[in-house]
Parts: sequence; C-alpha cells; structure tokens
Amino acid sequence: MKILITGGCGFVGSNLAIFLKKNIKNSKIISVDNLFRPGSRINKKRIEKHGIKNFNFDISNFKKIQKLPSVNLVIDCCAEAAIEVSKKEPDRVIFTNFVGTYNILKKCIKNKSNIIFLSSSRVYSINKIRDLIKGKNLKKKINKKYEIKENFDTSGIKSIYGFSKLASEDLIKEVNYSNNINYIINRFGVISGPWQFGKQDQGFMSLWMAKHINKKRLSYIGYGGSGNQVRDVLHIDDVCEIILKQIVNFRKIKNITFNIGGGKKNSVSLKELTDLCQRISNNKVRLKKIKKTSNYDIPYFITDNSKIYNYYKWKPTRNINSILWDIYFWLSANNDLLKRFFR
Ligand SMILES: NC(=O)c1ccc[n+]([C@@H]2O[C@H](COP(=O)([O-])OP(=O)(O)OC[C@H]3O[C@@H](n4cnc5c(N)ncnc54)[C@H](O)[C@@H]3O)[C@@H](O)[C@H]2O)c1
Repeated sequence: MKILITGGCGFVGSNLAIFLKKNIKNSKIISVDNLFRPGSRINKKRIEKHGIKNFNFDISNFKKIQKLPSVNLVIDCCAEAAIEVSKKEPDRVIFTNFVGTYNILKKCIKNKSNIIFLSSSRVYSINKIRDLIKGKNLKKKINKKYEIKENFDTSGIKSIYGFSKLASEDLIKEVNYSNNINYIINRFGVISGPWQFGKQDQGFMSLWMAKHINKKRLSYIGYGGSGNQVRDVLHIDDVCEIILKQIVNFRKIKNITFNIGGGKKNSVSLKELTDLCQRISNNKVRLKKIKKTSNYDIPYFITDNSKIYNYYKWKPTRNINSILWDIYFWLSANNDLLKRFFR
C-alpha cells in the first residue's frame, strides 16, 4: 500500500506515519510538509529514520503535488490548526487548510486514491456549544453529560479555522459525488502525546506539562481566568489505532463522518490539568489570570464516541493520566527539546 501523509512532520502526521510504517506490511509512506510548524524539523528526522521521505513544499502548490509519486491513500494531516491564528492570518489558514485539501483531492482523482481527512470538533457552532452549558456555573465543575454527536449544529460562526475544515469536508463530499473518490472524515477533539510541540492555543496538554517541568509561568485565559474550561483529550496512540482500523476496513466502511475524542472519561478542566501536572512533575508554577474570553473560544467540548464505537467497536484506551505521563517521560528524556521549544 502506498500512502501520502500531508503534514507528515507535524505532531499527528509524524506519529501516524511511523505507526503505519510499522503496522502495515510492505507499506510505502511519503509526506508533504513545508516544515512551517516549530518542531517539524525534529519530526522530519524521526520519520526519515523509518524510511519515510518528506517532500518539503507548500501544500497550496499544485504543480509540485502533481509531480509526487502515485499513491492508493491520502491521509490529510496538514493544517494551520490554531484557532486564534485564523483570526490574525486568515489567508494562511484558507490556503493551507482549504486550497491544500482541494489540491490533494485533485491528486486523489488522478491516482483514483481514497482519502482520510483529519477534521476537527471546531466545525460546530460556537454559540450552540455555549448555549449547551448556559446557566451552568463555570466556576464549579461543568456537568460532563453534554456529549456532542455528529449531527450537532454546524451552522453559524465557528472560526475561520472551523470554517476551513467544514468547507474542506463539503468539498470532499462533492468530489466523492462527482468523481467517486471514497473518503472517511474524522472530526477529532483535542489530541495529545509525545512529539507535540504545544502552544497555548494548540497543543495545551504538552505545553502545560513542559512548563511544569521547566517551572515556568502559565496563563488561564478567558472565562474570568478561572481555568474552568473543559476539553476531552485523546492519546495519539489511540488516534493511530483507530486510523489503522479504518484503513483495514475501508472497503466496508467508507463515505462517512465520525466524531472521535477522549469522551467523558477523558475530559479535564485547565484547573484539574494543573493539579495533575503538579503531581506528576512535583513542581508548582505561577498562574496568571487573563479574564477576557476570546470570541472564538468555547467553554467546553466533550465528544460522543457512540458512532465510531458502533462501526469499529473502538474506544479510547489511554486516560488523561497516561497521556500526561507519556508526555512527561518524553520531555524528561529530551531535555534539549524542553529548553528549545518550551522556554
Ligand atoms: N492536535 C489536535 O489536537 C487536533 C485536533 C483536531 C484536529 N486536528 C487536525 O489534525 C491535523 C494534524 O494536526 P497536528 O496537531 O498534527 O498539527 P501540526 O501543526 O503539528 O501539524 C501540521 C503540519 O502541517 C505542516 N504545514 C502547515 N502549513 C503547511 C503548508 N502550507 N504546506 C505544507 N505543510 C504545512 C506543518 O509544518 C506541520 O508539520 C490537522 O489537520 C488538524 O487540524 C488536530
């Protein structure tokens, strides 16, 4: 099987490329990544050790995509994935996330290949998510029973990032209709684990742990600086395992959209995350409180995994603690990365 992973030097792409290379016999895997994301050069070296070649160019450059070797499957992991960036740099988000997917789809048509698209829980309406927990006191623990299904409202504002993902999903469905290109769309919640070079607005789990190890200050941003916002988190190894199941079962299960996340059991507030990081690292950090909430932020997201479970009998197997311990072990063994990327 020949697989192209776009964004193959990113957090998800690099881990997935190495996992698939190890687990699919005789697979040939290539990557396209322009190494824009800090840390991607480190991940490039990791994938190269496994015989995975990266083509270093921008996904919006169709001429270069056309020249890539033919493949049977594309896994689209390339994105500008930070919500706040999409406010400041919408051009980059649209060109990478939407035009990039369009270019990749043209390659799928040429190669008659399938596509697995990494979409996001951020395709859902910001206001409808806020309404869901309206009246609940954010200072207290949010009731975790409001899990979000695939049919949750996607209309209305969802950030330029969320829009670019939903628009890409629609384009994929159009190309499925017009050119018979088969797809699976996965709307992931927060993913984390080793080799995530996290930032405040993308990859907060690894950032939180790294700052605790380094004893550096962190900020609770928004919601009055309470640290009460909640997300569910999925271990990168759980992501790799479900995507492998999807590849193996592609003939039977295709042209379908799933929500995939940590779910209720794997949900955590920032405050709870601080406690867990303190316990694991044995360090306390100073926490700045920034009261103002971004108009793109949501107070809460927890995935309803029942559809993905019904199709594949899959559910997350690693909990928040094991995600944090794995990040802790990774960073403790890579002191140079701690100093370079999480100062
Ligand atoms: N990490 C998460 O929590 C999460 C959650 C939901 C969905 N996703 C989706 O999963 C995918 C992977 O996310 P990630 O966390 O690995 O992000 P990442 O930023 O670590 O990886 C993205 C990679 O794409 C590359 N890239 C960016 N712009 C490019 C361009 N114009 N041309 C070529 N390469 C470019 C970057 O250098 C980087 O290596 C994305 O599509 C993201 O939207 C991620």
